[in-house]
Amino acid sequence: MDQGMDEIPYQWHKQIINLLAERIVVVNRDGIILHINEAYCEFLGTTIEKALQRPVQEVIENTRMHIVVKTGQKELAAIHPINGSEMIANRYPLVVEGEIVGALGTVMFRSPEEWRMYKSKIQHLVEELKYYKTKVEKDLKGKYHFNHLIGKSSTFLATKKLAERISGNNSSVLLIGESGTGKELFAHAIHNHSMRASLPFVAINCASIPEHLLESELFGYEDGAFTGAKKGGKKGQFEIANNGSLFLDEIGDMPLTMQSKLLRVLQEKEVQRVGGQKSIAVDVRIIAATHRDLEKLVEDGKFRQDLYYRLNVIKIEIPPLRKRTDDIPLISISLLKKIEKKFFRKGIGLSAEVKERLMQHSWPGNIRELENVLERAINVLDGKTIEPAHLPLYLRDQETKSNYVSETIAINNNPTTLTSHRIQPLKETLAQVEKQSLLNALGVTNGNKQEAAKLLEIGKTSFYEKCKLYDIK
Ligand SMILES: Nc1ncnc2c1ncn2[C@@H]1O[C@H](COP(=O)(O)OP(=O)(O)OP(=O)(O)O)[C@@H](O)[C@H]1O
Ligand SMILES: [Mg+2]
Repeated sequence: MDQGMDEIPYQWHKQIINLLAERIVVVNRDGIILHINEAYCEFLGTTIEKALQRPVQEVIENTRMHIVVKTGQKELAAIHPINGSEMIANRYPLVVEGEIVGALGTVMFRSPEEWRMYKSKIQHLVEELKYYKTKVEKDLKGKYHFNHLIGKSSTFLATKKLAERISGNNSSVLLIGESGTGKELFAHAIHNHSMRASLPFVAINCASIPEHLLESELFGYEDGAFTGAKKGGKKGQFEIANNGSLFLDEIGDMPLTMQSKLLRVLQEKEVQRVGGQKSIAVDVRIIAATHRDLEKLVEDGKFRQDLYYRLNVIKIEIPPLRKRTDDIPLISISLLKKIEKKFFRKGIGLSAEVKERLMQHSWPGNIRELENVLERAINVLDGKTIEPAHLPLYLRDQETKSNYVSETIAINNNPTTLTSHRIQPLKETLAQVEKQSLLNALGVTNGNKQEAAKLLEIGKTSFYEKCKLYDIK
């Protein structure tokens, strides 16, 4: 190694050292700074001139460099708070001929801003990866038919009947329903019940595709359309779905620019690949779905009205679970059968009390939430019957609800109690409600914060901040 260093001209050493670690400091055995680089100084809010030859403790807050030169023990990946940022510090004693002569310190994972910058760089890649992952998962999913759509309530049967009836024609379908109501299942069933059943069913999630990929994903691209484009070009989903159905999931999340392009394709029934000249004729039946209020989006200028009209030829509104509570036991049984298979279990049922609780709950996450609750219950269950104790807390705590009701009655009957208890600062009540909503949403999504934020229709960052505020792990 020595030999290698010798070959590098001496004047280069400093630069190389600086390039190897972003923030670096070298102290002598008395803890006096012999070398510190500009990046570190900048971060500390000082300059090299001011820092050099000073005791390290006076320059770097919370440092342990002066201790490392005494103990001779290296300290790796130590958390080092500087300037309100949690940094990761590595500290190495420098040993020459068996003697400690000083120490070298580096600081990694710098300020949150820099971390964010890094993150935004890899964000693109992460998004792409996530998109392809869900795509593969989707492709592996089974085919659904109308008989997989469980429910006997009149609202649900009417919806199902309408969907069955319109399966055969070629008009665009718009599926509207809250999250987890079964929009995707309906889309599959409609396709599988149509003349196009043996032809491709292609699903595309407009919300999860990174915007910069959406166009080439839908319409394909020609050879050399952009750097990294596959040789020979690539078919878009419209071409792949030709003669079959294209399921545009979460259509309400499609960016406006893409909406215009989609509208053109729907009107002209032909696509142009990105970077391509010729038009390719496509015959595709569109099934679109969203949990958003498209009319409101149109009003707010976030969704093109002309596209809305074009998609809204047949509108199917899938009722939320709370509007068909009678179906809950039936759906639970069918879900239990499905989950049992996954866990190699058999004959699991619900106690009467659980059944009642499930029917009382409002199910903001609908069937998906119910599925998560049951899967969780099976996980914590030894026997065959699911009891209230196997339910997540937010479903178990029915007592709070009844307490609240009885107390409200008490308040109404006796105005003097109004001031004595239950009344607390509005801020506190709101905070409690907010915390409970976060917990409920997390319950629905099995602890998945990103999904929970989506359910609550708030940003991811704001969700994380609130979790921190209420100490929700
Ligand atoms: N009628 C039904 N009977 C039985 N299971 C159902 C029914 N509807 C939906 N499910 C199940 O509920 C889960 C959610 O359904 P699906 O993915 O179709 O909902 P979604 O409306 O597309 O939700 P999101 O808006 O969140 O994408 C799936 O696991 C599905 O198998
Ligand atoms: Mg869906």
